[in-house]
Amino acid sequence: MQKPYTIIVSSPKGGVGKSVISINLAAALELMRYNVLIVDTDIINPCIGLYLGLTDTSAGILEVITKKIDMKRAVVPHPSTGIRVLPGSVSRNIATTKDVKITVAQIDAFMRALTKLDYDFVILDTQPGIEFPSTLSVYDEAILVAQPNKASCISAIKMLSRYGKAKLKCNLVVNRVRNKKFELDMREIEEMAEIKVSAMLPEDEKVQVGVAEGVPTFVLSFRAPFSKAMGDLAQMYASRIGKAQGPEEQAPHPLLRLFGRKKKG
Ligand SMILES: Nc1ncnc2c1ncn2[C@@H]1O[C@H](COP(=O)(O)OP(=O)(O)O)[C@@H](O)[C@H]1O
Ligand SMILES: [Mg+2]
Repeated sequence: MQKPYTIIVSSPKGGVGKSVISINLAAALELMRYNVLIVDTDIINPCIGLYLGLTDTSAGILEVITKKIDMKRAVVPHPSTGIRVLPGSVSRNIATTKDVKITVAQIDAFMRALTKLDYDFVILDTQPGIEFPSTLSVYDEAILVAQPNKASCISAIKMLSRYGKAKLKCNLVVNRVRNKKFELDMREIEEMAEIKVSAMLPEDEKVQVGVAEGVPTFVLSFRAPFSKAMGDLAQMYASRIGKAQGPEEQAPHPLLRLFGRKKKG
């Protein structure tokens, strides 16, 4: 059994698109026939369940971390894509991390358990900031999400340097790009960050439609500009693991057949 490729999707600030990127990356990889687990580690404001239209889940990450329930029982399939989902906490009584009675040792044990699961990819959506620094060594890569303005990029660069110190490989992804004069362009961001930008994801109304309907934009509107950019990013991650595809896996995902497009690779 091969270890899953683990990607943490993070940012210093909230509302930049981490959760949207997490679900669409998961959807794109799943539709390329990889087995994907998405984990909502946003303890305070989990939304992966909502964004995927999974509203009646009975257990989530906290129940697994505290061993009230086995991981296998808490993971639910997303009906239309087949992505496996470990939702966030189902409790409505969590306003700050102080309301959560879990220890660093429990979190470390949980994160290490994730890396032993039988998936091709494990994608972790996170809350803003580096909430659990001791777990940074567990992940294969981080996606750092920023928006094309100075405040967002400067705070992302600070986080980038913390990842650098932890020797965690990091991809800078810029989201909600409108190509306006007042925005930072790719070259300016690369000069500031001193690394290449892995993706410039466009502002796209279809993202908000997807969120409202509980469907990843990649599934809702395969040809939307945001979906195309996410498809390219997913292709980059697919090439990371270079998994040999068996004949079973080469058959296009039923949803891709629906779109009239064959699986790449
Ligand atoms: N590329 C985009 N185009 C349009 N709206 C977007 C885009 N990315 C994110 N959004 C919107 O921004 C809001 C916040 O996104 P979300 O992924 O929840 O942020 P975060 O997880 O970083 O807090 C969502 O309501 C989503 O609809
Ligand atoms: Mg989020």
